[in-house]
Amino acid sequence: MPQTDPEISFRRVTAWTVTDVCELSETLSDEQREMVADNAVSIAEAHFSESAWFRAIYADETLAGFIMLHTGADYDDGIERPGVFLWRLMVAGPHQGRGIGRKAVQKVVADLTARGIRELRTSYDEGPASPGPFYKSLGFIPSGDFYGEEIGAVLRW
Ligand SMILES: CC(C)(COP(=O)(O)OP(=O)(O)OC[C@H]1O[C@@H](n2cnc3c(N)ncnc32)[C@H](O)[C@@H]1OP(=O)(O)O)[C@@H](O)C(=O)NCCC(=O)NCCS
Repeated sequence: MPQTDPEISFRRVTAWTVTDVCELSETLSDEQREMVADNAVSIAEAHFSESAWFRAIYADETLAGFIMLHTGADYDDGIERPGVFLWRLMVAGPHQGRGIGRKAVQKVVADLTARGIRELRTSYDEGPASPGPFYKSLGFIPSGDFYGEEIGAVLRW
C-alpha cells in the first residue's frame, strides 16, 4: 500500500534498473504518451548530449518516475537557450496524483538554488492530457518562447 506522503529521491539509472525505468512509459495513458518521449528514447538522447542529466525518481523505495534536465544551449539537442531546462518529467500512472511530480520539481529547485540558479525553463504540448495545469500549479508562467509546437514556460524564484 503506497504511503500518501512519500519521500522523493533521485537515483542513477543502472544496468540493473534501466529496463524497469523504460517500462514505466508503458504505464502512461495513450494521451499522456503523446506528451512525453518514452524513457528509452530520453535515455538514448541523453547519451548523445553533453548537457543532459537524468535520474530515476523513487518514492520511498519504489521506482515511480523519470526526470531529465538539460543545461546550457546546444543546437544539436534542439535546446538553444542558456540556463537549465526541464527536458523530461514523467510519473508512472499508478503513482500520479500523489505529489511526486511536484516534489520532484521542488527538489530540482532546491538543487539549483544551492548552485545559485534561480530559474527553470520547460515546454509542453497542449491537448487533453497536457501537463500545462500541473506546471501552472507549480508557478510556471508562459515565457513567450515556442519550441516547435510546444509552449515555453519558466519558473523564477
Ligand atoms: C505531469 C505529471 C508529471 C504530474 O505528476 P504528478 O505526480 O501526477 O503530479 P502531482 O501529484 O505532484 O500534482 C501536483 C499538482 O498538479 C496538479 N495536476 C497534476 N496533473 C494535472 C493535470 N493533468 N491537470 C490538472 N492539474 C494537474 C495536481 O492537482 C496538483 O495540484 P495541487 O497541489 O494544487 O493539488 C504526470 O501527470 C505525468 O507524468 N504525465 C505524463 C507525462 C507528462 O506530461 N510529462 C510532462 C512532459 S513536459
